[in-house]
Amino acid sequence: MNMLTNQLSMNDLKKFKNDITRFMMTYKFALDEMETRIDILVQEFEMLHEYNPIEHTKSRLKSPESIFQKLMRKGGELSFEGIKGSVKDIAGLRITCSFVSDIYVISEMLRNQNDLHILSEKDYIKNPKPNGYQSLHLLIEVPVHMSDREERVCMEVQIRTIAMDCWASLEHKIFYKFSEGNQAVPARLLEELKQAAASAAALDSQMERLHAEISVIKEEQAD
Ligand code: GTP
Ligand code: MG
Repeated sequence: MNMLTNQLSMNDLKKFKNDITRFMMTYKFALDEMETRIDILVQEFEMLHEYNPIEHTKSRLKSPESIFQKLMRKGGELSFEGIKGSVKDIAGLRITCSFVSDIYVISEMLRNQNDLHILSEKDYIKNPKPNGYQSLHLLIEVPVHMSDREERVCMEVQIRTIAMDCWASLEHKIFYKFSEGNQAVPARLLEELKQAAASAAALDSQMERLHAEISVIKEEQAD
């Protein structure tokens, strides 16, 4: 009897592990699919315009631990369906562009792909967060074709410039130090971070203007 119980629980455990692996794999496939699409767009864009709007891309899968933490925070049901419904950023892709205008070029190209469903868009560039954070966030449903089925997998795409990325990475590092020690961030630091975000935005504007001016000069030379 005891042996049978052990046997059953081992099988259950094995099945559970397989289910989790399969669940996580669909998100990895969605990232692979999206990265290939971006790569194709960049290659074609480069061929047509002799210009690459993307500096680099980075993808990440949320760890099971942080999926669980977020599910609990959001009060979602502890099931695969519950996770799907509550945690929309299990798969995350960050696209770093050269100029602000490139962000909208890339997001438009993604919008034009009929089999991608844009579930939501948050434009923190036109409306920065109170702390100064800027980026364009899209929640996109990507079709993933597997051996026995097609699944629509939700992922979060963050599109930003190098300056926005620099600010967000450093802000995260600074905040992490404080949250590790359960400390509140001093108001003066918050204010300075906000000023730094404004400096990053000013740099973006200046580079965009230079880029536009140089493009005009190049066009005139080509005529
Ligand atoms: P969650 O924050 O993921 O619960 O969902 P949400 O709907 O509030 O998403 P939101 O668009 O606000 O942000 C999602 C992601 O954007 C975060 O996980 C970060 O990667 C990034 N992000 C948002 N705000 C900030 C910020 O103030 N600083 C930094 N460094 N990153 C941010
Ligand atoms: Mg948030």
